[in-house]
Amino acid sequence: MRVLRSIAAMQRLAQDWRRDSARIGFVPTMGYLHAGHLSLVREARRRVGRAGKVVVSIYVNPTQFAPTEDLSRYPRDLKRDLALCRKEGVDVVFVPNDATMYPGKAEGKYSTYVVEETLAVRMEGASRPTHFRGVTTIVAKLFNIVLPDLAVFGAKDWQQAAVIKRMVADLNFPLRIVVVPIVREADGLALSSRNRYLTGRRRAQALVLSRAIAQVRRVVRPAPVSAGRLRRVVQRVIAAAPDARLDYVAFFDPETLLPQTRVGRGTQMALAVFIGRTRLIDNARL
Ligand code: PAF
Repeated sequence: MRVLRSIAAMQRLAQDWRRDSARIGFVPTMGYLHAGHLSLVREARRRVGRAGKVVVSIYVNPTQFAPTEDLSRYPRDLKRDLALCRKEGVDVVFVPNDATMYPGKAEGKYSTYVVEETLAVRMEGASRPTHFRGVTTIVAKLFNIVLPDLAVFGAKDWQQAAVIKRMVADLNFPLRIVVVPIVREADGLALSSRNRYLTGRRRAQALVLSRAIAQVRRVVRPAPVSAGRLRRVVQRVIAAAPDARLDYVAFFDPETLLPQTRVGRGTQMALAVFIGRTRLIDNARL
């Protein structure tokens, strides 16, 4: 496994691979890898085959964090991440730094961003107004560097995957986006690098997200229900945890992300909840 830090080295290698007709599967991450990330790596390998190449990027992208968010304390452990990638048979881990990805930014000389204007507006976009601009920008840059045939994303960030699919279609990136199901702990908590922030008591309270989804599923099973009623169901579940605060809950079409007022089977549900200072997200198809 090779660890590359420069754009030129990564691009050169990707061009060589493409010349040799090797398919490139790409998994962009912010590191602190867990079983959810590894499921993306395995999916990339399954799709490109043994003759193909799998690239993982590890980069905590500052432009997708607001100044008030957890950029400086975001968990990092490159040594462990590299060991996990090696074990999974990853071909290259691309580990750029800020000066590489945003040259001249500190001196005000970086000024190009990618903005998706429709799907990125609600939910995460409403709560974190600069977030998706950072995500689409870094992902577009990484696509131009890694030159993948396919890129794999997790369904936990459902809106992110939808925004990136739209960007790929709108900007004619010649690659396929693959979305892999959420991996959960045995008790239902969706895997996230941010789970690391949760102490014992708060770890237990974090189960309100998956409980809220399960409760909504039970309510809509017999017949469609109004989104307003379901919002109250979710608020009640979240209120049972003393350190939990609901940021948003949304019921929407899984493809268009348009809000649905009557919610039944097939509707997508997403929610964001603060457990203390830690903000967690989860989603599910009802
Ligand atoms: O999902 C993530 O980890 C990040 O948003 C991504 C796609 C790696 C971009 O920084």
